[in-house]
Amino acid sequence: MSKPDISANLAGITSPNPFWLASGPPTNSAYQVRRAFEAGWGGVVWKTISHEPIVNVYSRYGAVDYDGRKVMGFNNIELITDRTLEENLREIAEIKQEFPDHAVVVSLMVETNRESWHDIVKRVEDTGCDGLELNFGCPHGMSERGMGSAVGQVPEYTEMVTAWVKEIARTPVLIKLTPNIADIRFIGRAAKQGGADALCLINTINSVMGVDLETLMPKPHVAGRGSHGGYCGPAVKPIALNMVHQLAADPQVGLPISGVGGIQAWQDAVEFMLLGASNVQVCTAAMHYGFRIVEHFISGLQSWMQGRGFERLSDFVGHSVPAIGEWAELDLGYKVVAEIDQTKCINCGLCYIACEDGAHQSIDISRLGEDEYADRLTAADIGNGRGDGHDSAIQISGGKRVIAGAGDGYVNIYTIRQETCVGCNLCSLVCPVDECIAMVPAESEIPSMTWREYQDRLSRGEIEPIQPPSHV
Ligand SMILES: Cc1cc2nc3c(=O)[nH]c(=O)nc-3n(C[C@H](O)[C@H](O)[C@H](O)COP(=O)(O)O)c2cc1C
Ligand code: SF4
Ligand code: SF4
Repeated sequence: MSKPDISANLAGITSPNPFWLASGPPTNSAYQVRRAFEAGWGGVVWKTISHEPIVNVYSRYGAVDYDGRKVMGFNNIELITDRTLEENLREIAEIKQEFPDHAVVVSLMVETNRESWHDIVKRVEDTGCDGLELNFGCPHGMSERGMGSAVGQVPEYTEMVTAWVKEIARTPVLIKLTPNIADIRFIGRAAKQGGADALCLINTINSVMGVDLETLMPKPHVAGRGSHGGYCGPAVKPIALNMVHQLAADPQVGLPISGVGGIQAWQDAVEFMLLGASNVQVCTAAMHYGFRIVEHFISGLQSWMQGRGFERLSDFVGHSVPAIGEWAELDLGYKVVAEIDQTKCINCGLCYIACEDGAHQSIDISRLGEDEYADRLTAADIGNGRGDGHDSAIQISGGKRVIAGAGDGYVNIYTIRQETCVGCNLCSLVCPVDECIAMVPAESEIPSMTWREYQDRLSRGEIEPIQPPSHV
């Protein structure tokens, strides 16, 4: 099979691949955008520009590190471009001429009046750019000045400004949405009413990163004071996926979507596309690892598509949208229970603690003497590993037998009590050994039916109420 075609089309804006750099520090200058295109990025959204350059503060970013992994979440109190409009316009025109096949979209944010928007749209489109992205998403700094999320949190403002821009725009107009809102669909619908050609989401989430326990100052701080900032990076991906899905599934929206938020690997990008994004944008991962991560994005996407027989992006964009819906549509008669593969188990007890204290008290613990335990194992389990990538059950170290999880001459053995297991997944999520706990199908006493059907059948007297599971 020849290589799949990964060229993308978002509301008529084409790019050689679906990977765009999101508006932010990596797209603040021609120098960076040129290097990004040379590295393989398919498009960029230029760092948000305005009539006047803003003044930034020193000290701007904060991060959440988790369990040895740096920058799981990233926060910034940076504003829009700190460069002059003339400089930006000249460089955008240069880049578009140099890279005619790449997508160059320009992010805009100006005062909320019609003349200002008309003026900037005309000047920006004269550069030859491929589209405009209206930044109604920035939740900090600019929102205090009545811009960014101050517009994107109010459906009427979103519709009004979108409509102003659409009065004169010649290129497609994307609306970049803020996640700092109760129900993103209302803003998506307002953008659609205003005439938007596509949506882009998410911008950053309002956040305070923390307080330094030595200095008692906020993180990050500017001369001892902090300000709420925008949160992004891997930690926000599930929030972004939910919002992308909500808009992709909403028949009143029906617009192409550019998905953003926490993408750091090709797999993340594919998930966004399966849930309805026509292409994706990346900011934090490019800031953390550099432009060359796009090589991994491209090769990973291509081989995944090849493996599944997809020839072009449209073969799978939106594929999983119908699989997510309301809770009331889930099947009450579907049942899975946990099962431990004892040949993989390292007897650590994490599943037991989690089920006992945080779930449904459905894991039994029994004690086996070390000798009895050793007798049960085959030769393959001892010393030379079990071929599963994990430590063997028994290691010989310095001539002594060392058994994982053993203490006081005993080994704890954990088994699932499947009669009471409610199939919550918790034990399998906390188990440190891959594929050691599987969730396996089980026969249910409840017939296959959704909660809605259950209510109907109850009201018609066709079914007895489902009995609650037994508790300790
Ligand atoms: C330091 C920084 C500056 C940003 N500046 C802008 C901006 O000027 N305009 C904009 O629309 N989004 C801006 N963003 C938001 C990103 O474009 C993106 O929506 C968000 O970071 C989520 O994507 P990520 O998780 O890949 O970073 C900025 C993000 C960061 C981290
Ligand atoms: S799936 Fe939930 S209830 Fe069942 S054993 Fe695991 S933690 Fe306990
Ligand atoms: S968490 Fe996994 S490895 Fe640890 S005892 Fe439970 S099943 Fe075994």
